[in-house]
Amino acid sequence: MIDSAVRIADLKHHAGAIVTVRGWVTHVRSSGKVAFVVARDGSGTLQAVLVKSQVPVASWDAFATLTQETSIELVGEVRADARQPGGFELGVQALTVIGTSPVDYPVQPKEHGVDFLLDNRHFWLRTPRQTAIMRVRSELEQAVHDFFYARDFVRCDTPILTAAIGERAGLFSTEYFEEGTAYLAQTGQLYGEALAASLGNIYTFGPTFRAEKSKTRRHLTEFWMIEPEMAWYDQDDNMNLQEAFVRYLVQRVLERRGEELKVLERDTSKLDCVGEPFVRLDYGDAVALAQSKGSDVKWGEDLGAPDEALIVDHHQRPVFVVNYPKEAKAFYMKENPADPRTVRCADLLAPEGRGEIIGGSQREDDYDKILRRLTEERLPVAAYGWYLDLRKYGTFTHSGFGLGLERTIAWICGIEHIREVIPFPRMMGRLHP
Ligand code: 4AD
Ligand code: MG
Repeated sequence: MIDSAVRIADLKHHAGAIVTVRGWVTHVRSSGKVAFVVARDGSGTLQAVLVKSQVPVASWDAFATLTQETSIELVGEVRADARQPGGFELGVQALTVIGTSPVDYPVQPKEHGVDFLLDNRHFWLRTPRQTAIMRVRSELEQAVHDFFYARDFVRCDTPILTAAIGERAGLFSTEYFEEGTAYLAQTGQLYGEALAASLGNIYTFGPTFRAEKSKTRRHLTEFWMIEPEMAWYDQDDNMNLQEAFVRYLVQRVLERRGEELKVLERDTSKLDCVGEPFVRLDYGDAVALAQSKGSDVKWGEDLGAPDEALIVDHHQRPVFVVNYPKEAKAFYMKENPADPRTVRCADLLAPEGRGEIIGGSQREDDYDKILRRLTEERLPVAAYGWYLDLRKYGTFTHSGFGLGLERTIAWICGIEHIREVIPFPRMMGRLHP
């Protein structure tokens, strides 16, 4: 076993002590008699000081070989220094090189093109901006679990290899033994509905796959989705829960990840709007609003990204667009009794041109109606036998939604393209690293 080292973030508990620290070199400088090594270990950044007359010759010689990303072990005294980021520096007694790093390390502290950075994603992830994003991501994932745990929702895991198709987006498929074609799940929802009839309130949190040929800043082919499904919730209950959920997620990041938001230079005043009630705008009114601002979208069509931006810019806070026309949405949404041309659904549009972060709906609970919709959509009815059973044996009012994790992170962090908020993005034209 390796001797225990102190994480840079924990040095504050070791003032005055002699400790071991391990990490990677970010930069070095020297005056000939005194040398400085700046290293990071994932928890923080540390300046270490070597005085030539006070360290072994081997340590002084090792300093001369350091390059960016050399991995090192330092032994030294933790000294308070108010000028340092964490409030401490290390007075080095010994420096050992663990792993050298050739001088051609690709990601240098200078501007690089995005394709180059994505090719070197395994290195790009070592930079401050990227580590800040990954910490916010982790905070949000934990916040998701805390939110639902506090409300007694049961977390359920649904299959990734599926036979029934959930959404209209492109499919990834593979041959599955003697069973024919299996699809990578586009959603966990259909299984979530079965589990809601078993447990009441549930949520899924997993990867979903869509063979999206669109190269936009909001589309990945593999992304993570949180999909709650609630028995006995109608669409109004559903939207109330979404509003509380999104508000909680934003507040949690503001409270606990302020340092990271600073690294990202996020103007957090732009997030204050989540404190106000979200707008609930009927689809017809949303179309009229977009048209009044120059869009040529017509009733019956799904809203495009530019339409969504116009609508949210007008309101300057999150907007639910409710009750879309049937043709624009998936087969499982409940027909709206007040206007059967439409369904009881809502997309939640985030501010700052972020577009849809949630799609949700009340589910069609009438056996005949949902069978008709499956047929109209030319879906293979046989694959939906078990799903239809949910309407045959004890049908129930139920609703749910799906929040896209990456779009939510990008909005909260103010990151333009969602490829930067997942460690190893998958999109058209990118499968490596
Ligand atoms: O609106 P969508 O397609 O809804 C569903 O999948 C439902 N089954 C959810 C449910 O009711 N349980 O997708 C939900 C969300 C979108 O609002 C968006 O945030 C995200 O998933 N999303 C994507 N994120 C990244 N890349 C893509 N290609 C995405 N497609 C959808
Ligand atoms: Mg949607």
